[in-house]
Amino acid sequence: MRKLIAAAGALALAVTMSACSSTSGGTDNAGGDKGATGSEVGVVTWWSAGSEKEGFDALAEVFKKQHPEVKLVKQSESGGGGTNAKQKLAANLAAKNPPDTYQGHAGAELSADIAAGYLEDVSALYDEFKLRDAFPKDLVDRLTVDGKIYSVPSNIHRANVVWANVEVMKKAGLDPNTPPADIKGWIADMEKLKAAGVQYPITVGATWTQLELLETVLISDLGVEKYNGLMDGKTDWAGPEVKTALEDYAKIIEFTDPALYSEDWEPAMKPIIDGKSAYNVMGDWAPPAFDNANMKWGTDYVTFPVPGNQGVFDFLADSFTLPVGAKHPDGTKAWLDTISSKEGQIAFNVAKGSIPSRSDLSEEELSKFSDYQKSAMESFGKDTIVSSIAHGAALPLAATEKMKEALGKFMANKDVAGLQTELAAAAALK
Ligand code: GAL
Repeated sequence: MRKLIAAAGALALAVTMSACSSTSGGTDNAGGDKGATGSEVGVVTWWSAGSEKEGFDALAEVFKKQHPEVKLVKQSESGGGGTNAKQKLAANLAAKNPPDTYQGHAGAELSADIAAGYLEDVSALYDEFKLRDAFPKDLVDRLTVDGKIYSVPSNIHRANVVWANVEVMKKAGLDPNTPPADIKGWIADMEKLKAAGVQYPITVGATWTQLELLETVLISDLGVEKYNGLMDGKTDWAGPEVKTALEDYAKIIEFTDPALYSEDWEPAMKPIIDGKSAYNVMGDWAPPAFDNANMKWGTDYVTFPVPGNQGVFDFLADSFTLPVGAKHPDGTKAWLDTISSKEGQIAFNVAKGSIPSRSDLSEEELSKFSDYQKSAMESFGKDTIVSSIAHGAALPLAATEKMKEALGKFMANKDVAGLQTELAAAAALK
């Protein structure tokens, strides 16, 4: 039985474009020209490159078709995981300068914005768009705070996936179809790769990707219950189990290329695509990067849950909001309609690699998805679901931001004890 274990759960655009986030995507004003009525929606997002941009563009196409009267103004800020977008957004929200809608994550990440009164309750839209039965109940539960729902999810991603190059694994005599059972076994395989001449058996990029790697090591070494306990205080971040996990994390980091530590996820994935490194841990926004290199899933590259994460789906969902004081609430409503519609969810998720957050798609609609995506849907249906720390499902934004800082420091000083102290302090932030 599927069990969701929730851990915790600008300014107006055309007129004052100076307040808008910089636009680095190509879809700006993608809503067409029929904004004669003055209706528009400014969307703050970080989906500005690669598969993420492709996904947004697909959504923009559906939006144009469904709401031709509303002009779409994409306010994108590059930086995977929303690193830059979130900083700019926080400043705009604090300055009472909200966009019409912004991308957040289902779960704890929006808790501070909700508590600060930045977000409208969009429960009525769930009734109007008939979404209550369209989304899995567990998902709606984790979007709900004190009986109110504050965002509408466009997709579901899985964070604890190893993307592995088959050729490289074979160089070290490793069987791509039989991944190791746990982290210790995985570290042993990395040793083998190194001995076989693979300089960097695994890659990792910027701090948000480091946090994503770390959370999967925590899931493996602590197990689901204790991992969840890290979020509700039942597991001590300063305790011996976390120490062991951090020591494993430190060993894994020894196999990585320091030149990539400030890069986004795509440059960090490139050595896997180019056959230079064996592994990268990343969310399943990665498949289009392999498709674009003409690599076939199951033949040229394989995916498996991080060793020790078998049967666990490390969950995150992108979810869009209606900020209090948004200049174009009607435009926002149109956007929320499209992202939650079947058509919008199919177009977007097929392009992005994620799975729909709607659970009411027909067999025929589901047949449009890739084999990888079908496998992710199957896992989501039967695995134990845990919340991603790196992608806002598990802890408030302040906590994850501080954790990222601590991991960045660790790359320079390799001080495991110091990292543990800082993570423990970060976890307490609201
Ligand atoms: C996540 C987001 C994903 C993807 C990823 C990489 O936080 O939920 O949809 O965009 O960052 O940028």
